[in-house]
Amino acid sequence: DERYAVSLLGLTLKNPFMPSSGAFYYGLDHMDDFDLNQLGALVLKTTTLTPRTGNPQPWIVNTKAGVLNSVGLANPGIDAVTADFLPELAEKLPDLPKMLSISGATVDEFVQLAKIIDDIETVNAIELNLSCPNVDEGGRAFGVTETGIHAVVSAVRAATSKPIYAKLSPNVTDIKPLAVTAENAGADGLTMVNTLVGMSLDLQSRSARLYRGKGGLSGEAIHPLAVELIWEAASVVHIPIIGVGGVSSIDDALELMLAGASAVQVGVMNSVDKLRLPKLIDALPAALDKYHFDKVSDVTGALRALPE
Ligand code: DOR
Repeated sequence: DERYAVSLLGLTLKNPFMPSSGAFYYGLDHMDDFDLNQLGALVLKTTTLTPRTGNPQPWIVNTKAGVLNSVGLANPGIDAVTADFLPELAEKLPDLPKMLSISGATVDEFVQLAKIIDDIETVNAIELNLSCPNVDEGGRAFGVTETGIHAVVSAVRAATSKPIYAKLSPNVTDIKPLAVTAENAGADGLTMVNTLVGMSLDLQSRSARLYRGKGGLSGEAIHPLAVELIWEAASVVHIPIIGVGGVSSIDDALELMLAGASAVQVGVMNSVDKLRLPKLIDALPAALDKYHFDKVSDVTGALRALPE
C-alpha cells in the first residue's frame, strides 16, 4: 500500500519500521515473536572481521532513566555470518529487505568487510557503526570527528555499490558538520542515533556497575535527544535519515519523522515488549488519519517553522 511505503536502502519498503542493529541479533531467534515479513526491513547485529565475545558481564544495567548496555560488539564474525546466518535468513525471509551493520577497528577493516558484503546479493544495504560507545581499541570512535567519519565513509563508498547508512553518535557537541561530512563522503543515508554514554555506580561496593565503567544509555530518556539531533541534521543534509531512540508509541515514531526522519528503528524498547514493532505497524493507519497525513512519507520533515 503506497500510503505506508518509504523509499530507503535503495528499495521501496512497505512501511518505515525496523529493529535497530543489535535489537534482533540476526533475526533468526525472533522468527516466533511475530511474522518478521511485516517489517519494513531487518537490521542485523554489528559484525566485525573476527568473532568477538564482547565485554565481561553484566551487559545490561537498568537505571531510572533507561537501560545502560556494555555489550562490546559481541558477534560471531563475518565468516560465520556469511556462511550460516545470511543463507538461513535468505531462505526463511527471502523478501524482507536486510541491512547489515559493520564495525572495524581500522578504516581498512571497514573496507574489507564492505568488500565481502558487496558480493552478497541477499544484503541490501550496509550500516556503518561509527559510534559504538563500548569499545576503544583501535579507535572505533570514528563517529565523533569529521576526519573519522570522512575516512570510513569515503573508503567504504569506494569499496561497495550497496547503499551505505552512517550511524552517528549522540555523544557530540555539534552534529551538523558531522552529518554533512557523512553525506559529502558518499553516505546514502544516516541512522541517528546510537546510545548516549552514561554510568551507574553501586554505593555499597563503591564500584561501577559495568566492567568498563561507562555504557550506552537507550530507551525513553534519549527520545527527546534523538528528536533534536535529527532535527539539526535534517536542516543540513539531503539524504534520508533513519531515526532511532526511545520509541515506544506511534506518536514517538511520528515525532522522529516530523523532525526529519524517513524511517524509524526500535532497539531496547523491543525487549520491554517484543510485539512493539508489529504494534507500531498496526497503529500507523489510524495515526495518519488522526494527524491528517495522506501518507507516511508526508510526515518526514513536516515540522512547522519555529516562531520568528
Ligand atoms: O550501545 C551500543 N551497544 N551501541 C553499539 O553500537 C553497539 C552495542 C554493543 O555491542 O556494545
